Amino acid sequence: MFPTLSAESCHEPDRSRSLSPPDPMTTTTATAPGKVILFGEHAVVYGRPAIAVPVAKVKATATLTDAPAGTGCTISAPDICAHIRLSSHQQDPLALAVRLAIEEACIEADPDWQITVSSDIPIAGGMGSGAAVSAALANAVFTHSGFPAHSRSDAETVNRIVYAVEKLHHARSSGIDNTVVVYEQPVWFVRGQPPQRFEIARPFHLVIADTGIASSTAAVVSDVRRAWEKNRERYESVFDNIGEIAVAARQAIASGDVNALGPLMQENQRLLRQINVSSTELERLIAIAEDAGASGAKLSGAGRGGNLICVVESESVGKVQKALQAAGAVGTVVTQVGS
Ligand code: MEV
Repeated sequence: MFPTLSAESCHEPDRSRSLSPPDPMTTTTATAPGKVILFGEHAVVYGRPAIAVPVAKVKATATLTDAPAGTGCTISAPDICAHIRLSSHQQDPLALAVRLAIEEACIEADPDWQITVSSDIPIAGGMGSGAAVSAALANAVFTHSGFPAHSRSDAETVNRIVYAVEKLHHARSSGIDNTVVVYEQPVWFVRGQPPQRFEIARPFHLVIADTGIASSTAAVVSDVRRAWEKNRERYESVFDNIGEIAVAARQAIASGDVNALGPLMQENQRLLRQINVSSTELERLIAIAEDAGASGAKLSGAGRGGNLICVVESESVGKVQKALQAAGAVGTVVTQVGS
């Protein structure tokens, strides 16, 4: 149902199951997109449905080059000043993604590779930066080593690897971030079930704006957990309401009722406020976006900072984007959902 990650190699990838070593000094590049959650974050951790879409305008890129024999495998991420030797960093997220992909591809010794990762997805911004980096790394390893690419099973393997790495970041990960980033498709997601595609009858625009405030998903998810433990009845009821909004949103998207999405976002945001995952800055930018003509806006991802998303009619996109920039959003991206 879902295609694999996009990957390109400057040498023709071997699509057979043969695992012969690559030609000397070849370079393979793989990318994976960012994502936003349209409806259902947090409640999805507790089994309610959520809707997420990839954002191709931002991406993580992994470039893998053969290195001189005996030099081993190093991973550099200049954006975060990381330089890792694979053999000595088993629990680092970058190293784990590469290690798991190497194991899946049945490469026995540590290969001599220099891998560089870069990303223009905001870090700790709710846009799936960590998942995209892991996906780009795993896919670069598979493409470079001739692991069969462009098959469904390959995407499932990448998804499994990225989920394992996500769980290093936060143990309660629902799996939605890795799924949308790996399959590069809008997903209807229920924890523990296979992801589903859904119909988008009429395309619509989102303006995504970054508060510039980094927010740890692990910390916010843990806070929600503690609050849920203290007051299960209230939290379960809020999660039920969020799940109902996701169901209504799916129906609206499938029937082309784009006008319903703004009010549904507003309602989802009201419930996210109730579980204390919004912030003053998110609320300020949401109000500015709605004043400038957005039909609705909400935080996206874990919240407390990171990014907000606004559903906007095409004629108002420029005005909403300018208003958010003037109000101090550190970055804005416009994306169309559906084609
Ligand atoms: C984070 O992008 C989304 C959360 O629902 C956590 C998760 O689903 O793992 C907050």
